[in-house]
Amino acid sequence: MEPLRLAVLVSGRGSNLKAILDAVAGGALDVSVCGVYSDRPAPLAFEWARQSGVSVFPVVPGETESRAAYDARLAGEVLGVRPQAVALAGFMRVLSSAFLDVFPDRVINIHPALLPSFRRLDAQEQAVAAGVRFSGCTVHFVDGGMDTGPIILQSVAPVYQDDTAGTLSARILAKEHKTYPAALQLLAEGRLQIRDRRVLIDWNGRRPRSPRDSVSEWQEIRDSDRIPG
Ligand code: GRF
Repeated sequence: MEPLRLAVLVSGRGSNLKAILDAVAGGALDVSVCGVYSDRPAPLAFEWARQSGVSVFPVVPGETESRAAYDARLAGEVLGVRPQAVALAGFMRVLSSAFLDVFPDRVINIHPALLPSFRRLDAQEQAVAAGVRFSGCTVHFVDGGMDTGPIILQSVAPVYQDDTAGTLSARILAKEHKTYPAALQLLAEGRLQIRDRRVLIDWNGRRPRSPRDSVSEWQEIRDSDRIPG
C-alpha cells in the first residue's frame, strides 16, 4: 500500500514534526511527508524537514490580508503537494472554512491537554492553575471551532504539586511525540471513522503499530471497542 501523503503545518520549534519524521524513518508510520508549510518565514521546524529531505514552504500572511484570503491562499499552496491529509504541529493560527472545506475531515491537530478541558492557548498553565492531578494531550480532527473537533487519541500525564507550566509542558510533550505518530498511523491504515462527531477506531482485534515504547493507554483493546457494523 502506498504511504499516506501528509502535509504538515508548523509555526515554531517543530518537535512534533520531528517525532513524525523519526517515526516514518523508523518504519512505525506509513506516511510520506510531502511538504512542510509555515506562516512564519523560517521556523526552527524547517530544519527538521530539510534534514529529512522534505520541501518547506513559508506562506506568510500579508499585513492587510484577511483571514479568509490567507486561508484560501494557504490551501492552494498545500494542494500543490497533493496531500491526502494535513497535520497541524504547533501551527499557531486557527484555520477557517476557507482552508478546512478544501480538506474535509482530513485536518488533524495535537493539543497539550485532555480535551475538552483547557482549550486554547496556555493549556499547561491552565492545568497547573486548576490543580488537576492529570492532564495530557489530545490528537483530534479539526473542525471550525477552537480545539473542538472529534477526538482520535489521548495520552495522560500526571500533574505534580510543584509543577510549573514549563515542567508540565515537558512531561506532556514526551507523550505528544508518541501519541501523534500513533494517531496518524491509524489514519494511514484507514481505521478512523467519524460518526456523530465521535471517532470510532477500527482496532480489528489487534494492537496498532506504534512507536516502540508507546504508552499503553490505547493498547487495552476490548471487544466492546470494536465498531458495530
Ligand atoms: C505542542 O505542545 C502542541 O501540542 C501545541 O503546540 C506545541 C508545538 O510544539 N499545539 P512543537 O512545535 O511541535 O515542538
